[in-house]
Amino acid sequence: MPVNILVTGGTGFIGTQVATRLIAGGHQVRVLSRGTKPTVSGAQWVRGSVLEEGTLAEALHGCDAVVHLVGIISEIGSQTFERMHIEATAKVVSAMRQNGVNRLVHMSALGARSNAPSRYHRTKAAAEALVRESGLAWTIFRPSLAYGRGDGFVTLFDRISRWSPIIPVFGSGTNQLQPLPVRTVAEAFSRALENIGTVSQIVDLVGPQPLSFREILRTLLLVRGRRRWLVSVPMPLARLQARLLETIFPTVFGAAPPLNRDQLLMLQEDNVGDPQQAERLMGISTVSFKQGLQGMFFD
Ligand SMILES: NC(=O)c1ccc[n+]([C@@H]2O[C@H](COP(=O)([O-])OP(=O)(O)OC[C@H]3O[C@@H](n4cnc5c(N)ncnc54)[C@H](OP(=O)(O)O)[C@@H]3O)[C@@H](O)[C@H]2O)c1
Repeated sequence: MPVNILVTGGTGFIGTQVATRLIAGGHQVRVLSRGTKPTVSGAQWVRGSVLEEGTLAEALHGCDAVVHLVGIISEIGSQTFERMHIEATAKVVSAMRQNGVNRLVHMSALGARSNAPSRYHRTKAAAEALVRESGLAWTIFRPSLAYGRGDGFVTLFDRISRWSPIIPVFGSGTNQLQPLPVRTVAEAFSRALENIGTVSQIVDLVGPQPLSFREILRTLLLVRGRRRWLVSVPMPLARLQARLLETIFPTVFGAAPPLNRDQLLMLQEDNVGDPQQAERLMGISTVSFKQGLQGMFFD
């Protein structure tokens, strides 16, 4: 069983939960990130980019396994999908081979495929191919939307619904997603490292049932006890809005935009999977979206 684990992106929304869970499970955790966010207490920190070979070699020293989480939902500056998904994964795989580290649990995303409309999904698929062909002992996870404190989706719509009488729904809002709590994602990464049966497996991580975008927003409003109008934003208008945000946020705030055109492409297709797969393989089961939100806001 691995005990020294490098978590790339271990300071992010999912990475914080993964690092916390691994430390609670008795592992030694080293986190690699550029250092814009605090690390989990008890984790070692190697500060630098996953694209730097020297940093990777330093971070891998003495490790038995890698959880590779670094990825982006919005491009900013030189952090493009191609660099952060494909090039970063190629560098991690190559550094692992050079440093004799054999176990890799890799973060992909539900919907990753080479012919997807979005570049996010296409570059995630290309990264998966590198992992599958790496010769390492790999497991690939494909989560649906993960939610919890500090996320980018539920928290955003919760904030909007606090002050606004209307909530924007991009397009028809009928496409289905299968959100799951971030803690369940962290649990899956932890169990994979302890379960040899997950090697060479690509595993969907999804909530118990598919929900449309509208149903997700209605559930959020129900849990928060708010009555708001869900208003459809036609796709051409949503694209224009996303394009403006893509220009304004990096230049004015030096930050990634809260919405981009690639995300809109993803929201126009169903993003669902089979919850039984993770249950059969690792005993992972999860709560309904409503129960998960109650835990997120009230526990
Ligand atoms: N959130 C979801 O619902 C969801 C669903 C499916 C899949 N995923 C995937 O899960 C992964 C993590 O997502 P997240 O939501 O936790 O993202 P996040 O909160 O943005 O975290 C990204 C992490 O990567 C680090 N990072 C970014 N660029 C880096 C670089 N060049 N070198 C080293 N570290 C770097 C960040 O730290 P610094 O900025 O300090 O470097 C941070 O620790 C991504 O691959 C994402 O595609 C997420």
